[in-house]
Amino acid sequence: EKIHNEIFKNSVEASKIVAEEIATLIRTKQEKNENCVLGLATGSSPIKVYEELVRMHKEEGLSFKNVITFNLDEYYPMNKESKQSYHYFMHQHLFNHIDIHPDNVHIPNGTVAIDELNQYCIDYEMNIKNVGGLDFQLLGIGRTGHVGFNEPGSHINSGTRIITLDHITRVDASSDFNGINNVPKRAITMGVSTIMRSKRIVLLAWGQNKADVIKRTIQGEISSEVPATFLQNHPNATFVLDQSAASGL
Ligand code: GLP
Repeated sequence: EKIHNEIFKNSVEASKIVAEEIATLIRTKQEKNENCVLGLATGSSPIKVYEELVRMHKEEGLSFKNVITFNLDEYYPMNKESKQSYHYFMHQHLFNHIDIHPDNVHIPNGTVAIDELNQYCIDYEMNIKNVGGLDFQLLGIGRTGHVGFNEPGSHINSGTRIITLDHITRVDASSDFNGINNVPKRAITMGVSTIMRSKRIVLLAWGQNKADVIKRTIQGEISSEVPATFLQNHPNATFVLDQSAASGL
C-alpha cells in the first residue's frame, strides 16, 4: 500500500481533523502574508468538513480573506441557480457563510458556450497556475474510481476539460435529479494532472458502498481504469476513511 491511510471511527471525527488541517494551513499562510489556494470538492463526503470550517469562522474567527478556491468540477450544461449545480452546493455549504472574497471563488461554469469551452478550460488551468498552484486539494471518490469527474479512461496527463459521465455516475446522481434522464450527460472537470500537481491531497470516503472502490484504489494496479489509483504516485496524499470505507483493506 503506497497511499497513506488514516482510519477513523466515524466521519464526524475524521472531518474535524481534516478541517483542522485546512484551518492550520490558512493561518500559517496568513502569518506569512501569502494566499492559500484550496481545491474543493462537492458531493456528500466533504459536507462535514465545510460545516466545521464555517463553525471555526463563526466561533474562532478563522478568516478566509487570503483564501483562493478552485472547485473540481461542474455538470454541463448547468445553470448556476439550479439546485443541482455545484455552484449552488458550494455557496449553500460554504461560501455564503464565510468571509471569502467573491473574486477568489472559482467554480467551472456550466453555461459556457460549447465553442468557447476549450479556451475556458485552458484559462481555468492557467488561473490555477497564476496563483502559484493548489496548496491543498480535497477529494471525494465516485464508485467508478473517479476523482473530480475524471472517469475511467482519463489520462494521467489530462487537464481541465469536458468529459462524458460514466453510466454508474449518472445512476448515483439520479436521486438528486429526479431520475437518470435528467442527469446531465457531461461535465467540466479539472484533469488528473491538475489534481496531481497539488502540493497536498486529502481524499475522503465514508460508508460501506465506497469499500470496494477504496480497495481497488489503494491496493490495485495504477491504471486509468481506476483514475484514483494515480494518487498512489503522489508524494503527499492521504486517504481519510471511516471504518466501513476501509473494511475491504
Ligand atoms: C460526484 C463528484 C465527485 C465526488 C463524487 C462522490 O461524482 N463529481 O467529486 O467525489 O460524486 O460523491 P459523494 O461524496 O456524494 O459520495
